Amino acid sequence: MEIRPDTLPWNDAYKLLIGSVLPRPIAFVSTVNKEGAANVAPFSFFTAICADPMLVCFAPMIRGTDGGKKDTLVNIELTKEFIINIVGNDIVEQMNNTSIEYPYGVDEFEQVGLTKIDGTAVNVPRVKESLVGLECELYELLHFGANPGAGSLVIGKVVSIHINDVLYENGKINTEKLNPIGRLAGHSYTRAITDTFVIERKR
Ligand SMILES: Cc1cc2nc3c(=O)[nH]c(=O)nc-3n(C[C@H](O)[C@H](O)[C@H](O)COP(=O)(O)O)c2cc1C
Repeated sequence: MEIRPDTLPWNDAYKLLIGSVLPRPIAFVSTVNKEGAANVAPFSFFTAICADPMLVCFAPMIRGTDGGKKDTLVNIELTKEFIINIVGNDIVEQMNNTSIEYPYGVDEFEQVGLTKIDGTAVNVPRVKESLVGLECELYELLHFGANPGAGSLVIGKVVSIHINDVLYENGKINTEKLNPIGRLAGHSYTRAITDTFVIERKR
């Protein structure tokens, strides 16, 4: 079987993409609009880039329903700031509920029952229930088309890292206590700590 993605409708190509690139970590991204209304939404097209400068990136796609930009991207273009909250097993339901398309300006923390805590380096609230929060300043923004199926790449410079004390051990984060979840294809998820193994690196 060989398939050329540009012969497919975008939503069929999307299914092959999310079935190939997995498991994906989830950036639970908090932002504010010009009036200060808070927004939070999950993005699994998310990864780290480098440590110095500490850069991370995620990719909001054009909204499939109306061809508009997602609220997260609108807010980041306005304020140039955001926080990536890491999703542990205990806030999965709330995270999933924020992926509902609320009208622009609705406080999604309040809608799903999450607690806001002020950022210290950026003027954006982070999710108190999340055990790790990466406060970011917008570093670079790239756009790849304007139609449904297209998307943008948001690169953030991490200017502050919040780590819940229970996870922090000798300069490292305890993965078991973080218990992060990953996104698979469709509506499936995986818990990172359920089946782990170690391979020593050869020199
Ligand atoms: C686990 C999960 C991962 C998601 N990953 C992405 C993603 O990488 N890119 C994207 O555009 N939408 C993604 N979505 C959908 C957005 O979260 C959804 O469109 C949301 O309404 C956007 O919110 P906003 O308009 O407030 O920014 C994901 C949804 C879920 C539940």
